[in-house]
Amino acid sequence: MSTDPLLQPFQLKHLTLKNRIMTTSHEPAYPEDGLPKERYIAYHVERAKGGVAMTMTAGSAAVSRDSPPSFNNILAYKDEVVPWIRRLTEGCHAHGCAVMIQLTHLGRRTGWNKGDWLPSVSSSRHREPAHRAFPKLLEDWDIERLICDFADAAERMQAGGMDGIELEAYGHLLDQFWSPLTNDLSGPYGADTLENRLRFSMDVLAAIRKRVGDDFIVGLRYTADEAQKGGISAAEGIEISKRLAATGQVDFLNVIRGRIHTDPALTDVIPVQGMAAAPHLEFAGAVRAATGMPTFHAARIPDVATARHAVSEGLLDMVGMTRAHMADPHIVRKIIAGHEAEIRPCVGATYCLDRIYQAGDALCMHNAATGRELTMPHDIPVATHKKKVVVIGAGPGGLEAARVAAERGHQVVVLEAQSDPGGQLRLTAQSPRRREMLSIIDWRMAQCAARDVVFHFNTWAEAGNVNALNPDVVIVATGGLPNTTLFEGLEAAHVVTSWDIIAGDVTPAGHVLIYDESGDHPALQAAEIAALAGSKVEVMTPDRVFAPDIMGMNLVPYMRVLQDKDVSFTVARRLLGVEREGNRLIARIGTDYSDHVHTAAYDQVVVNYGTLPLDELYFALREGSVNGGAVDHAALIEGRPQSLVRNPAGRYQLFRIGDAVSARNTHAAIYDALRLIKDI
Ligand SMILES: Cc1cc2nc3c(=O)[nH]c(=O)nc-3n(C[C@H](O)[C@H](O)[C@H](O)COP(=O)(O)O)c2cc1C
Ligand code: SF4
Repeated sequence: MSTDPLLQPFQLKHLTLKNRIMTTSHEPAYPEDGLPKERYIAYHVERAKGGVAMTMTAGSAAVSRDSPPSFNNILAYKDEVVPWIRRLTEGCHAHGCAVMIQLTHLGRRTGWNKGDWLPSVSSSRHREPAHRAFPKLLEDWDIERLICDFADAAERMQAGGMDGIELEAYGHLLDQFWSPLTNDLSGPYGADTLENRLRFSMDVLAAIRKRVGDDFIVGLRYTADEAQKGGISAAEGIEISKRLAATGQVDFLNVIRGRIHTDPALTDVIPVQGMAAAPHLEFAGAVRAATGMPTFHAARIPDVATARHAVSEGLLDMVGMTRAHMADPHIVRKIIAGHEAEIRPCVGATYCLDRIYQAGDALCMHNAATGRELTMPHDIPVATHKKKVVVIGAGPGGLEAARVAAERGHQVVVLEAQSDPGGQLRLTAQSPRRREMLSIIDWRMAQCAARDVVFHFNTWAEAGNVNALNPDVVIVATGGLPNTTLFEGLEAAHVVTSWDIIAGDVTPAGHVLIYDESGDHPALQAAEIAALAGSKVEVMTPDRVFAPDIMGMNLVPYMRVLQDKDVSFTVARRLLGVEREGNRLIARIGTDYSDHVHTAAYDQVVVNYGTLPLDELYFALREGSVNGGAVDHAALIEGRPQSLVRNPAGRYQLFRIGDAVSARNTHAAIYDALRLIKDI
């Protein structure tokens, strides 16, 4: 019997949780028609297989039709949900993993212009800045029907075999009543007393209990401190916690600290990379101490050591490691096997969460199998025929190619021109708060080292030295170099690139124009470096909004640095050219919306316009290859081996991946590698 505090069972009412690690509710936006179908089930079952004791499924599963999902959530108001919930619960139970689900009414935290086009409702008259709907103030008949909707949804979840439910009360309808900041009601549910503010939640709990009985597990995930003047204070939050406990109707408390009404507020609740780890852990422990209730909590507890500390110090009963399980679903299995060092680390990039709003589903930046369990393996199968695989480039894509090929049992050699691995991620890591990104590289280097991958650094690959290695397969992962032209080939003389600034090859000048045609991190990273160096900075984009590819939560740390500096943002302006005039640069600036053109003077113009592929080697190797570099897309998508033959005399298969094909991102490079090489 292990003495590891994390591996001790926890008794929650009648339910024995086999260890102390859970995933908290996180809607990955995988439902189809509002139902958790095959993709959804496979995602949770993979984590169940990996040993997690409990998965809190969904996230904001909607109990009412006037709570339309913000980002493709489960529709718990539909009766058709029950058989799918049953398949989900049976799939997880088969691996000894308890399954619960988070139910909610979003209140004002949604939009009216989707689903059934019903007005959003709230105890507040004010819109939530992040979701923008101006709500209708709830009437008595709304309150009555919503209480009933909660009870109906809970009953459906019980019928689907769930071990329990959790009600969401941070930023959603339940706590919109609680907070003086969001309760504009008068009367029995009004803002004047705490008792009145809690009344709706108490009514909901009572209705649910009446429907599901005493044995079903019911908990709350709630803000116990809004951390904002005029909102629920920590002292009031502890009082709320005690009152919830005193009802005898609540089986666990899942503690949140903060608000989520804006991107910055949400980012303080769910910290991204570069922010402090476990910032609310001690507070969650204080709630546990004050109430004696089973206490759960998650907020950037990404590593096993912190999770262990949380349990051994009595701060938590169950530790949420949610994004950590998106990065590696097999954390518990690896702890049990004594292989903690092999856990693929969550680097806090929060690509996962930002994507559910902007791109439609959650994907992990550096685990391309997450959310693709139906087609991509988390455990790479060993190949039947051993091959020699030569990879050129040790950036994230090249290293993923090397790792997967090595796990397949192939003999792998990596050639890298630089003295260190990492490629573009080395530039990313120039910003201290994004240094964690190097773990994407370090983890792969350790995996490769354990599988005898041979690395040749400071080695410029040419067709000759690649051929001399006698490969069966060549993977070109050489990345790209910054594109210094402007849109459709316009000349961009006298400019430097965002990479020049980030790498420190060029010192920021006094007045800097950062011209961002790409909308991704390097532009704001360069802006941050220049602003911190004291430059006056203007970030300009031809797009309608600036930095569209950085997305909501990832934008927050940039803005926190930039907004008290001399930085301005200009949208919908296009740089047409740059000329030198004495010491200064004169930028000719147009717009896609009219023929208007004007000029402005700067000391330095920095262009961010993606990369052009470093593809010379690829083209040099094509002639000697069997497939001429061609990819069978149908085979790639359907998960079959590549077998195109364009040159029967060829000696090797040749593929290029990542930015060596076209400028994309880290996830794309890693996914290119995984899906190609898992079948080689
Ligand atoms: C893709 C994604 C979706 C999420 N959706 C929800 C949600 O619907 N409800 C909720 O309470 N928390 C949601 N969360 C927050 C997580 O439950 C958790 O609190 C957060 O990720 C911090 O924990 P971690 O650092 O262990 O990831 C979501 C998180 C992610 C990554
Ligand atoms: S995208 Fe980043 S934050 Fe999200 S799970 Fe992956 S590594 Fe963690």
